[in-house]
Amino acid sequence: MRYISALLLGISHAVAYKSATNPITISTAAANSKAVPPDWARIQCTDGGILPTPTYGDSGSIFTACAQLVIDAPVEQVYNAIIDFGSYPKWNSFVPLVKPRDGAVLSDVRAGLPMTFHSAGLAPFGLNTTTDERVTVLDLPSYPRPASALVVWRFDPALGATLIQAEHPNILTHLHNGSTRYISYETYYSLGSVAVQLLEEAKLKKQFVQQGHDLKAYVERMSA
Ligand SMILES: *[C@@H]1O[C@H](CO)[C@@H](O)[C@H](O)[C@H]1NC(C)=O
Ligand SMILES: *[C@@H]1O[C@H](CO)[C@@H](O)[C@H](O)[C@H]1NC(C)=O
Repeated sequence: MRYISALLLGISHAVAYKSATNPITISTAAANSKAVPPDWARIQCTDGGILPTPTYGDSGSIFTACAQLVIDAPVEQVYNAIIDFGSYPKWNSFVPLVKPRDGAVLSDVRAGLPMTFHSAGLAPFGLNTTTDERVTVLDLPSYPRPASALVVWRFDPALGATLIQAEHPNILTHLHNGSTRYISYETYYSLGSVAVQLLEEAKLKKQFVQQGHDLKAYVERMSA
């Protein structure tokens, strides 16, 4: 049930970690100020390549699990489905349940929203795992037709462990035929992520791809 949490806890116990205060960064500037903030709409999955994230940039990254596909619906519709965390049980076989934390309300979507994801397909024996996450960026530009949009959350361990950091951008880009390019990836940082890579990389990649197909089916069914 708590395979990942136990793994992370075990690793973080092995090393002293910093205090639990973990300020939220919502700017799109990379944590490494020397890095040029990427043009999110140009990012695409690369085979084995590591992609930067808004909070952590590209320094200290260990690996990226990435999924990319085309959804035949407008950017706004895909965006709204992704931020509707309370509806994940309706479509998402990878994250079939999201719960709010700390008295937050899931429908009050904002940068800083604390959530617990219940995920399937990562642990052995069909066990589900839970991870604490926090929204870091919400960006749906409002003009007649958004060219691109960004929804990002990051791993937010309760104990403020710094040995594993991870952030998950969803980048939605308007294609000229009205469809949306969906890129969903998670980049893992810090030494503890080496263990996650060893144990989970292949499963994460598979589940991200599955999640993309689930989202595509759900959104296209709604917009049909
Ligand atoms: C894991 O979650 C899925 C979806 O909610 C559920 O069907 C399944 O029974 C859960 N597995 C376990 C072992 O709890
Ligand atoms: C729009 O173009 C993409 C490729 O650029 C394609 O995969 C997609 O199926 C197209 N959508 C429609 C509705 O034709």
